[in-house]
Amino acid sequence: MSKVCTDASVANAVMDTIKVDVLIIGAGAAGLMCAAKAGARGRSVMVVDHANKVGKKILMSGGGRCNFTNMYTEPNNFLSDNEHFCKSALSRYTQWDFIELVSKHEIPYHEKKLGQLFCDNKASDIVHMLLKECEEAGAQVETRCTVHEISVNKDMGEQGSRYRVSTSLGEIDCQSLVVATGGLSIPTMGATGFGYDIAQQFELTLKPRTAALVPFTLSKAMLERLSVLSGSSIDISVSCNNTVFRENLLFTHRGLSGPAILQISSYWKPGDEVFINLLPDIDVDQWLYQKQQERPKAELKTIVSEKMTKQMAQVLTDWWCPSVPMNQLSTKKLKSFAEQLSHWMLIPAGIEGYRTAEVTLGGVDTDELSSKTMEVKKQKGLFFIGEVVDVTGHLGGFNFQWAWASAAAAAEFV
Ligand code: FDA
Repeated sequence: MSKVCTDASVANAVMDTIKVDVLIIGAGAAGLMCAAKAGARGRSVMVVDHANKVGKKILMSGGGRCNFTNMYTEPNNFLSDNEHFCKSALSRYTQWDFIELVSKHEIPYHEKKLGQLFCDNKASDIVHMLLKECEEAGAQVETRCTVHEISVNKDMGEQGSRYRVSTSLGEIDCQSLVVATGGLSIPTMGATGFGYDIAQQFELTLKPRTAALVPFTLSKAMLERLSVLSGSSIDISVSCNNTVFRENLLFTHRGLSGPAILQISSYWKPGDEVFINLLPDIDVDQWLYQKQQERPKAELKTIVSEKMTKQMAQVLTDWWCPSVPMNQLSTKKLKSFAEQLSHWMLIPAGIEGYRTAEVTLGGVDTDELSSKTMEVKKQKGLFFIGEVVDVTGHLGGFNFQWAWASAAAAAEFV
């Protein structure tokens, strides 16, 4: 991993030092957007990335089609220790601004569901669009660039280069330094904790980080019971710590996944109980009672399979109630089975971790940053944008919208 060091001297500058107004570390969603916007303001901008390609997470997002924003973006789609922090940036660069940009580049897109906008073709349309914007704005984009050290020059005055960044391309002097290195998920795609290291170098508080939008793992005993359902899905509602999501659940060979589970994982802490309603559209108790009157000789699993796959009905009846004819089930038994179906309480064994998580919860404490500019309050010219900041969106295009909005906010002031 790259090393960072504080307050090193910049006096021994060499002749071929690169000088730019703005240096951005990380050519992902936020970094490229910030580069294009700051360049368009007439700032000389360079964005460097250690990966061999820019925007790798954009390319793999949304199953290769990039869910680039959400039409219903609101501040309450974001988690942060300070729920108000995201409001300014989100209101100044909205989902409609990004949609306008996508339209300007004639990128075809569609709404999949719940306001989630995806490219019709490929996620690379979004990367090409950002690179084109960078090119038009004269922002230079460099890949395969390792950042070794960041030093502060305290004596250069307001207009001078405040930072010297030592990289594999050489020394780069800049007035504004923007950290857009993202979160920790999918390390194989170039994710690193470098942004957090930089924050620590400048003695900024970090909120605890954890993988989010991530599948749950289950205990061995529960997996043995449910493994036969691996690959099956069902529309559920799920709740944890007073938050509820209504979406699909997918049984996997490691545990539970699907959009409902990914969403609730952001609100879950080890040991917390999760409640699942497997039949959220009906009053299960009443429905079973009614079925008992209408079809007394039908087996319980036959009745339940009206609402889910046969296999699911089989597994759940094996687990929670013997599948005998309905008229052999006491009211008490039927009630307790209804309670299980509509209020299944489980404690996940854990989460799958950064290998499969979509995002990192936590990060640079928003108290350290101006919500208007994304600049570090106590360190002039240093900015943090995108996922490295303690702002995490729900599933559905919100994380990209935060990347675009925080980048645009910073770009006005770098
Ligand atoms: P991002 O991760 O995009 O960019 C960070 C950049 O910094 C990378 O290019 C990286 O190589 C570079 N970097 C890291 N360390 C460095 C170092 N030491 N030196 C130099 N460069 C360094 N969101 C959404 O809204 N809709 C979606 O459809 C999806 N889908 C999705 C799928 C999958 C599989 C994942 C993992 C994530 C998503 N997301 C998503 C989340 C979304 O991808 C994420 O929130 C944004 O990309 C964050 O943008 P950033 O620019 O902050 O980081």
